[in-house]
Amino acid sequence: MPRRIDKPDYPVAKVRRYLEPGPIVLVTSARGGERNVMTLGWHTVMEFSPSLVGCMISAGNHSFGLIRASGECVINLPTTALTDEVVGIGNCSGAAVDKFERFGLTAEPAEKVAAPLIAECHAAFECRLVEDALVETYNFFVFEVVKAHVAREPEHPETLHYTGDGVFMVAGRIVDKRALFRPDMLRP
Ligand SMILES: Cc1cc2nc3c(=O)[nH]c(=O)nc-3n(C[C@H](O)[C@H](O)[C@H](O)COP(=O)(O)O)c2cc1C
Repeated sequence: MPRRIDKPDYPVAKVRRYLEPGPIVLVTSARGGERNVMTLGWHTVMEFSPSLVGCMISAGNHSFGLIRASGECVINLPTTALTDEVVGIGNCSGAAVDKFERFGLTAEPAEKVAAPLIAECHAAFECRLVEDALVETYNFFVFEVVKAHVAREPEHPETLHYTGDGVFMVAGRIVDKRALFRPDMLRP
């Protein structure tokens, strides 16, 4: 029997610590010969097919203008091998520095968008902006993944999951409950 858990009051501004932890991603962008990369934790899957992903990209970030103007980006999935790079990329601006050079990342051409793939990442998802209605109010971009590149192994990469204040959780133990799932209940 699951046990009841006592839950004292908690500051609402800190609930991100419990809700945020999807994998940290590195979002690349390009426009008119310029390229950039930023660290991003605030994203959410919105649909399977078409494959939609929503991202919160602050207007103050250099990437914001590049992505809004080009209508494209690549969502790259780093693993713990890139932990220091993830932190460094999220703590400097592409307006002042070429982050690919500074952090030793290899930019590879994407197939369907101008933004580059990061060769050192486990996966890369080429995205086109399909909805900008919430950009003005919430800096929220809805992208469609139009092409996906994923390493064959490991099947479950050791991804980073941000809990705020400079602290990450690392993806770990795999729990397989496939036997209990009913595919007919997984409606889009
Ligand atoms: C762990 C981590 C998570 C972050 N998540 C986001 C995010 O979800 N959205 C956002 O706009 N900025 C986020 N940032 C901040 C940007 O990565 C940071 O402002 C970066 O310097 C922007 O780069 P740019 O100005 O070159 O675009 C995050 C930073 C870190 C370190």
